[in-house]
Amino acid sequence: MNGFEFTFADPDDEKSIKRLLSASGLPHEDMAQHLRHFILAKSDHDLIGVVGLEVLGELGLLRSLAVAPPHRNKGIGTILYGRILAYAHLQGIKELYLLTTTAEGFFSKLGFCKVDRNNVPPPIQATKEFQTFCPSTAVCMVKGRDEEPQYYPKEILRLQPDVPGAAMWAIALKKAMLTYFEVEPNSRFEMHRHESEQITMVLEGELFFEIAERMICVKQGEVIAIPSNVPHAVFTQKKSAKAVDAWSPPMEKYKK
Ligand SMILES: CC(C)(COP(=O)(O)OP(=O)(O)OC[C@H]1O[C@@H](n2cnc3c(N)ncnc32)[C@H](O)[C@@H]1OP(=O)(O)O)[C@@H](O)C(=O)NCCC(=O)NCCS
Repeated sequence: MNGFEFTFADPDDEKSIKRLLSASGLPHEDMAQHLRHFILAKSDHDLIGVVGLEVLGELGLLRSLAVAPPHRNKGIGTILYGRILAYAHLQGIKELYLLTTTAEGFFSKLGFCKVDRNNVPPPIQATKEFQTFCPSTAVCMVKGRDEEPQYYPKEILRLQPDVPGAAMWAIALKKAMLTYFEVEPNSRFEMHRHESEQITMVLEGELFFEIAERMICVKQGEVIAIPSNVPHAVFTQKKSAKAVDAWSPPMEKYKK
């Protein structure tokens, strides 16, 4: 899909999102408080599509999916849905709900099923969208997390802070996990151990491992494999580092 870019929303986008939502007949009154979880489609910096998520623990409310009329039926709505689904997975969401008055058919094709409003979990019923904005005639739909392969586009992999000086994302299946870290110079992960086996590859810079009474410098393109429960500390010196780690079983502390 050349010519379109997908990004997370920031406060500068608020006005144009409101315009698009109201032109599409969707509520936007409480949008600002959920803006952090909104994904946009833009063409030449102009907003042409939006989708949002409300994160309620393991439940999610998919909301505010709209594509500007001149750009409809080109697949953008489906791509936005794919982005928000990947993001919902990263947030650890197990069940995704939505309300719609206009697009039941669109969401049915994506695997959503109709559900009685009265059978919806209380945190979803308590959302503003559920209580106020959508008329009681709106159809409520749900989709559980399935075991299908999940694609994570780059812009969905938003870094989260970890130890001071380090930011990361984590993706887990049931038995394996991949993490990605960006570590500033002179940062340190104190001595620790974990049941999970860890295999780390340095993509850029260098990482130092204090392990088994040795210090090992792992440079760009190199790998270190750490068996279960071996104590180790990790740090950077003058250079920053970017690295990926494979874990099995998944590290509990990085699971959402
Ligand atoms: C619903 C919406 C987001 C779809 O976006 P889009 O970019 O046009 O969708 P796509 O091009 O990815 O369409 C994919 C398919 O869905 C179908 N579709 C699109 N809108 C539909 C609707 N409202 N109901 C049923 N099917 C619909 C298309 O015909 C197409 O079908 P096909 O693959 O069999 O040809 C867009 O029509 C819109 O903004 N509508 C107004 C706001 C709205 O109703 N949002 C949903 C409520 S949260």
